[in-house]
Amino acid sequence: MIVFDKVSKKYPLGNFALNEVSFEIDDKDFVFLVGPSGAGKTSIIKLIMREFLPTSGSIVIDEEDISSTGFHKVNALRRKIGVVFQDFKILSDKNVFENVAVTCKIQGLSSGETKEKVRATLALVGLKNKEKVFPIQLSAGELQRVAIARAIVGDKKYLVADEPTGNLDPKTAWEIMKIFKKLEGEKTIIIATHNSDIVNSLKKRVVVLKEGKLIKDSRKGGYDL
Ligand SMILES: Nc1ncnc2c1ncn2[C@@H]1O[C@H](COP(=O)(O)OP(=O)(O)OP(=O)(O)O)[C@@H](O)[C@H]1O
Ligand SMILES: [Mg+2]
Repeated sequence: MIVFDKVSKKYPLGNFALNEVSFEIDDKDFVFLVGPSGAGKTSIIKLIMREFLPTSGSIVIDEEDISSTGFHKVNALRRKIGVVFQDFKILSDKNVFENVAVTCKIQGLSSGETKEKVRATLALVGLKNKEKVFPIQLSAGELQRVAIARAIVGDKKYLVADEPTGNLDPKTAWEIMKIFKKLEGEKTIIIATHNSDIVNSLKKRVVVLKEGKLIKDSRKGGYDL
């Protein structure tokens, strides 16, 4: 469970990117974070990953206050959160299998376990026959599938995505969104997006931000800003 309590974030050279934002995300919830450019979506994701601390307020993940300066389990925290970005961030000198296996290595899995988990995960994201292929030979949609596989392999509890369909055409965006849908109920899923079609069709929880403030949190929301 993730609890933001009156979280504010001010960057050294800027105004408040987040202003007393509070929300709770239960385990296995599926949440869209929406709002205009600059609303604070990426800042929320970075705070969850503990890339930096909030200026004020508290962030509790699985009963641990990750916003306290005394929190020392950053690696353990990141091991349970898979992240997907708009620009895929795939390693170009590694093939598909190796890109996904990176996560298993970090988790200390044996090579047998790694093989098994990577193969199962590639099948789940629809890349069964692409193990040995290098990123340069993949389409944008396929690259994003690799990124999702890397983010979810090894039973991560959370899946966080920052504009995962931002660089994809509408049809491919829907195919990627179907993978997230498939994972619903297994993981806690948080997706920051500008894709109003997808948000309006899926009728999931929608948290709306505007200029750093949470202005709406609805259970079966749509994308109306
Ligand atoms: N490193 C930084 N230094 C200073 N200001 C920053 C920094 N990162 C973000 N900001 C500011 O914080 C605010 C929120 O930014 P954030 O990236 O969280 O928005 P966003 O909702 O993700 O926007 P977008 O939809 O464009 O990705 C913006 O006003 C932005 O300019
Ligand atoms: Mg952003």
